Amino acid sequence: VLSAADKTNVKGVFAKIGGQAEEYGAETLARMFATYPQTKTYFPHFDLSPGSAQVKGHGKKVAAALVEAVNNIDDIAGALSKLSDLHAQKLRVDPVNFKLLGQCFLVVVAIRNPSVLTPEVHASLDKFQCAVGTVLTAKYR
Ligand code: HEM
Repeated sequence: VLSAADKTNVKGVFAKIGGQAEEYGAETLARMFATYPQTKTYFPHFDLSPGSAQVKGHGKKVAAALVEAVNNIDDIAGALSKLSDLHAQKLRVDPVNFKLLGQCFLVVVAIRNPSVLTPEVHASLDKFQCAVGTVLTAKYR
């Protein structure tokens, strides 16, 4: 469960990211595909080469969903309900992959804002990623 301090920390990180969310999203995906190539199996219909327009486009969507979750941090399940249906019922992405994506996002935040990611903020962001992953994998049956 995200504490009040966690919520403040997560909002602080996203305030810092600001208008660059799309770039963070694309970089996160590029890292995920490079570091954990098994994640590429969900995207056989995508051009996954570096700089691909499809990866950039998808990065924008993923980032927008994360921003939506931050803007509704007290009701992430409600905010991402449709996305939860999609991932659980149609895409059937193995839950382990959400940890991989979350890890890559953390690395991108760390590289771009070394001073922002104190251990406390790191922990809060990790909890937030876990909360989002839990919501997106909650309807698997
Ligand atoms: C689609 C968000 C994790 C695989 C999407 C879409 C969004 C999204 C916004 C587009 C939905 C639409 O077009 O209506 C997220 C978020 C994640 C996450 C916020 C975690 C923080 C993952 C992971 C994988 C994955 C870990 C697999 C490794 C896919 C696939 C699609 C998709 C295959 C469909 C792509 C397409 O054909 O356009 N996701 N996703 N997602 N996601 Fe996720």
